[in-house]
Amino acid sequence: MIRTIGVIGGGQLGRMFALDAKRMGYDVITLDPQEHSPCGQVADEQIVAQYDNLAAIEDLGRRSDVVTYEFENVAIESIRHLEKHGFSVTPSSDVLRVTQNRLLEKRFARECGIPTADFAEIDRSDDLVQAAQEIGFPAILKTVRGGYDGKGQWRVDSLAAAEAAFAEAKGVQLIWERMIPFVRELSVIATRAANDDVVTYPVAENAHDHGILSMTIAPARVSEEVSTRARGMASILGRRLGIVGTYCVEFFLTADDELLVNEMAPRPHNSGHYTIDVTQCSQYEQHVRAICGLPLAQPHLYANAIMMNILGEGTGDHLAGVEDLLADPTIVLHMYGKHHAVARRKMGHFTMLINGPLDPTAIEKAHTAHAKLHWL
Ligand SMILES: Nc1ncnc2c1ncn2[C@@H]1O[C@H](COP(=O)(O)OP(=O)(O)O)[C@@H](O)[C@H]1O
Ligand SMILES: [Mg+2]
Repeated sequence: MIRTIGVIGGGQLGRMFALDAKRMGYDVITLDPQEHSPCGQVADEQIVAQYDNLAAIEDLGRRSDVVTYEFENVAIESIRHLEKHGFSVTPSSDVLRVTQNRLLEKRFARECGIPTADFAEIDRSDDLVQAAQEIGFPAILKTVRGGYDGKGQWRVDSLAAAEAAFAEAKGVQLIWERMIPFVRELSVIATRAANDDVVTYPVAENAHDHGILSMTIAPARVSEEVSTRARGMASILGRRLGIVGTYCVEFFLTADDELLVNEMAPRPHNSGHYTIDVTQCSQYEQHVRAICGLPLAQPHLYANAIMMNILGEGTGDHLAGVEDLLADPTIVLHMYGKHHAVARRKMGHFTMLINGPLDPTAIEKAHTAHAKLHWL
């Protein structure tokens, strides 16, 4: 019987997961180096320790009936350590190994018969010359591990620029990807249970600003055929990966309706926040269900949604304009309890419920609402 859930990572994804887990009656313990973390504020307890502190990780394992994690940059040794000592942890270290490495992830997608952007492994500066010839420009160089929110990425359009990026990366392994002139960025949130059941949410459409998600429109403005294909690909990837829990697959949609997998996240995802407010079972509750062996819920959409991220601006820690924002009853505000609004830090988001078409007027309305907010 599962009573206590351990969560490695105390950020906003852990917080929203913990809120649903608490509602469902579970105890939650989180582990994060930052005291009073967003998840720690709503969990029953927080262990304050680094993610690779094996003694602390073992302590979390001992006190939890199942352990999960809220981001993929946790040290894989920590997950292996829990497995080796017989603690229940999900997703497994095999899943984490693939999804925390952009090269393994893309090779895995291709093994599943699912296309990706052309890519090459960059270990030495010689590899740059070869990739320039074989894959070409414009290209994007990314650290194979550890990147998120556009961090550890360089957009390059010449060999000289690629060499400069390689030097800046100081010897860490890189991936060279062809820049895709996509018409839409899409994502599919899905959850797989241990009995191999998979549910997928309606496809979401994402807009990024300098590599950070800024807006999600759900459902995406794509054809039924594209939507079905994307959801099918997400199911295949989850099943072949053998993941237990909620995960996300990001895609590029090209002008000729080709879907290319960009990356996978073995956890709930920023582009799935909308599921909290417009479905009966959020991506977080679905994750609770999967890891606790409860049946998954077939998601039902009550309304269309536009989700806007609220990023810090580095100008102050007080969010002004909230009164004005909340005068609109279609808006649901979520703040993460972070005390410092450092520039470009994810501080919160809002979901605008749309009971009509997701047309330019609706999108304009969401932008206007977002413009009411600023940090003082
Ligand atoms: N190959 C590519 N072609 C075009 N745009 C890309 C490519 N790779 C990344 N991007 C852009 O950069 C964003 C962040 O890259 P991503 O690989 O998703 O890394 P992160 O882990 O930071 O989310 C993407 O959402 C997309 O907008
Ligand atoms: Mg991404």
